[in-house]
Amino acid sequence: MTPPWLQINSRRPIATAYGPAQRDVVSAAGLPEVLQALAACPAHRPTPLYSLPTLARRLGLSTVQVKDESQRFGFGAFKALGGVFAVGRVLRDAVGAKGFDELAGHAHPQFTFATASSGNHGRAVAAGAKIFGARSVIFLPSFTSAEKEAAIRARGAEIVRVDGDYEAAVARCRETAEARGWTIISDTSWPGYETIPKYVMQGYTVLADEALKQAGNAPTHVLMQAGVGGLAAAVLGFLWESLGERRPLSVIVEPESADCWFQSNRLGEPALASGDATTSMGGLACREISPLTWSILGLGVDWFMTIEEDHVPPAMRVLARPDGDDPVIVAGPSGCSGMAALLRLCADQAARNALGLDANSRVLLINSEGAFGEPALFERATGLSVAQATERMR
Ligand SMILES: Cc1ncc(COP(=O)(O)O)c(C=O)c1O
Repeated sequence: MTPPWLQINSRRPIATAYGPAQRDVVSAAGLPEVLQALAACPAHRPTPLYSLPTLARRLGLSTVQVKDESQRFGFGAFKALGGVFAVGRVLRDAVGAKGFDELAGHAHPQFTFATASSGNHGRAVAAGAKIFGARSVIFLPSFTSAEKEAAIRARGAEIVRVDGDYEAAVARCRETAEARGWTIISDTSWPGYETIPKYVMQGYTVLADEALKQAGNAPTHVLMQAGVGGLAAAVLGFLWESLGERRPLSVIVEPESADCWFQSNRLGEPALASGDATTSMGGLACREISPLTWSILGLGVDWFMTIEEDHVPPAMRVLARPDGDDPVIVAGPSGCSGMAALLRLCADQAARNALGLDANSRVLLINSEGAFGEPALFERATGLSVAQATERMR
């Protein structure tokens, strides 16, 4: 019997083709536009995809590969791909600019971009607003670390601290922005607000495209951490559209207290998390899914699972202090959650069997963020400061 923290998606067999409903949300057709925008940014490089052969042997798998988004743009998280692109995309439409390079040459002080964020997306929106000479206001829940707040301020944003969780920050952002005529650049969607979250996910498809090209043999399994589901929908949507029936078996990973996807899967429709979303994995601390992503994740993901807080430090350690010649990877709590999930799955024979994790399995994980936002937690978990661990990467 599979453990209670692992649940199959019973709707998945009916959704074999990547159809118009999915393509409307995420499509590889949108990738060239993002790549064109990135080409206007000389600092941009694809992030590395690391292989961990010693760990793969220890876990009885063929390969474990980690897409290291901690190195995205020197920004520290995959979120840079979505927030910056979405700000530029909205501005382009608004001022009728032909390309992103044309936009970046002018200031746009008449625009204020607002979003709620646990930290990373807000930093991306602030960065986008700064690049294009606009103003930004970022609404942070009470749990966002001082380090993440400082990094957002450093990109010129104004901060509004909301005394509450992520959903409270979203509500406050909506109220304020609607009253003041600001443009919301949200990574989560709600009825009537879908276009901009689609731009955000369009940006994320870059990492899936890179990973597929870097992987050599396509992965057989992909583990994707989810907050509202934007990252996972972009990755699975891209893989599903590109590989069809050959796409990897997919697993959504969430903290136990923020299991909105796990509960939505159980009920067969978007549902609230069973807990209050108190977790060290701040990027995943969401009580509600982004409804827009249901047609991809609700219908297309194979398995949903949760992890507990105790699983985070060992996963950080495995990445930062690897065995053998495996590369050092610096991951924050949300970043290492895919590794935490893989370790949990591999330690449970019934889970291994259910997912077919064996010596032929090629597993893809995403380190969605570095550790700059949670330095104390990282040091407790690994015995290394973020600077020391980063030094070992070179
Ligand atoms: C580091 C990190 N990983 C994963 C996620 C989850 O992304 P999504 O909310 O699109 O599911 C986030 C979201 O903020 C994040 O910051």
